Parts: sequence; C-alpha cells; structure tokens
Amino acid sequence: MATLFNPHKLDQVRKAADKLSSESRSADELMEGITVLLNKEMLKYNWVGFYMMEPGANPPVLVLGHYQGAMTPHTRIPLNQGICGAAASSGKTVVVDDVKKDQRYLACSLETKSEIVVPVFAHGQVAGELDIDSHFAAAFAHGDRELVEYCAQLVGKRLEKE
Ligand code: SME
Repeated sequence: MATLFNPHKLDQVRKAADKLSSESRSADELMEGITVLLNKEMLKYNWVGFYMMEPGANPPVLVLGHYQGAMTPHTRIPLNQGICGAAASSGKTVVVDDVKKDQRYLACSLETKSEIVVPVFAHGQVAGELDIDSHFAAAFAHGDRELVEYCAQLVGKRLEKE
C-alpha cells in the first residue's frame, strides 16, 4: 500500500527533473516540463506554477508563467501581496499548512488548503518562484520542500545560462 511519505517517489521525481533539465532547450521549456512533472507525479500537488519577476517593472511585480491546474485570477502579484509576494520579497521558501489561517493568502481555488512557494534565484537575485497549492492540509513535508527547492534551483541554474 502506498504510504503518505515515500522517499523513493521523491527520489524518482528528482531524477526525472534532472532528466528534464538536461534535455530542455531553454529555461522556459524546463519550467513547463517541471509543472507537468510535479502535477502529474505528486498526487497532492494540485496546482503547480511559476511566477516570474517582470523585467524592469517598477514597482516590481510577479507575472504568471507556465502552470498546471485550474485557472487563477492572480496573473500579476505585487511583491507586497500574497504568499507569493512574501516569498519573492524575502527570498525565502514559505510553507503554509493551513491557508485559512494566513492573512497574506490570496485565494485561487476554494479547494486549496495548503501552499508552498519557493524562490528561483539566478545570478544571486530572485528571478521568480515556483508555487504549489494542495487540496490537502499540511501537504508539504520536509521531503516535499527539498524536492520543490531542488526543482527551483534547476530552473535558476538554467536561467543563468541564457
Ligand atoms: N495563493 C497565492 C496566489 C497564487 S495562487 O495560489 C495560484 C498567494 O497567496 O500569493
């Protein structure tokens, strides 16, 4: 029977992300591949998407990029709004186990119960972030956080080559 925490699965998905990284022709293609991979393979990752910093925007703003899951009304998020803005402005991963209890939360779907947002760094700056919503409370354990941070790092390294 499948267990809730499956290190083997996390390892498999990490290796699949490595494969995508070596086969993708651009950071854009890699980001698309990562959204598909995580949404398909990680059963609690119900919405998976990238928000990227708009080049030259003043004040800075995050713009929705590739995503898998339901349409979201939040296609542009200023850095002083939402869990997304908090992660980008602090440069730190934000994990929210119960979105109802976090006043920063901007709702995308009524079904969302927990969320993780991981900044993507390129050349030492926040270039964007990987945002994942789950229909399950506290869906993002330590192993999930490591996997999502790993995927964000792959994208950051790829962006540095462009
Ligand atoms: N919940 C996010 C907004 C983006 S949606 O999750 C897709 C936030 O609070 O910033």
